[in-house]
Amino acid sequence: MTAQRQPRERSPQAERGPRRVYRNDAIEVTWEPRFCIHARKCVRDLGQVFNPSARPWIDVDAADPDAIAQTVLECPTGALHFRRLDGGAQEEAADEETSVQPVSNGPLFLRGRLRIVDREGNLIREDTRLALCRCGASGNKPFCDGSHRRIGFTTAD
Ligand code: SF4
Ligand code: FES
Repeated sequence: MTAQRQPRERSPQAERGPRRVYRNDAIEVTWEPRFCIHARKCVRDLGQVFNPSARPWIDVDAADPDAIAQTVLECPTGALHFRRLDGGAQEEAADEETSVQPVSNGPLFLRGRLRIVDREGNLIREDTRLALCRCGASGNKPFCDGSHRRIGFTTAD
């Protein structure tokens, strides 16, 4: 008898690709894989909706839209966003104040009214939540892509 190779589970981080949209009558959730660093905050907070083992991995019917919206707002990288289709509160405009939070052994988490531009001043990304690389190994600079784990990046904080 020959052993059959099991298909390896692919994480959200491994699934780079175009922006995906998941919706029902109440809420539309968008996920941009290139900004997802597999921090799994969404998975820990609302695993019945954000389940990397399921396909599709986001099931907007598995919880009420308020809970989904709250979880989306906690995504530190801006990979997740939502739009309410049922009259519920939309994503709030960014605070005037910008915060920068260094993550131990990882990126800088930014929140606020954020505009990332290139050297010529061209807009690369505008968002209210972002993760910027500080290990130097990201393949998606200036954004973190999770490579800090692969290279064993450590910080003193
Ligand atoms: S919280 Fe955001 S960055 Fe983390 S796994 Fe979920 S979508 Fe990806
Ligand atoms: S800090 Fe995450 S890839 Fe550099």
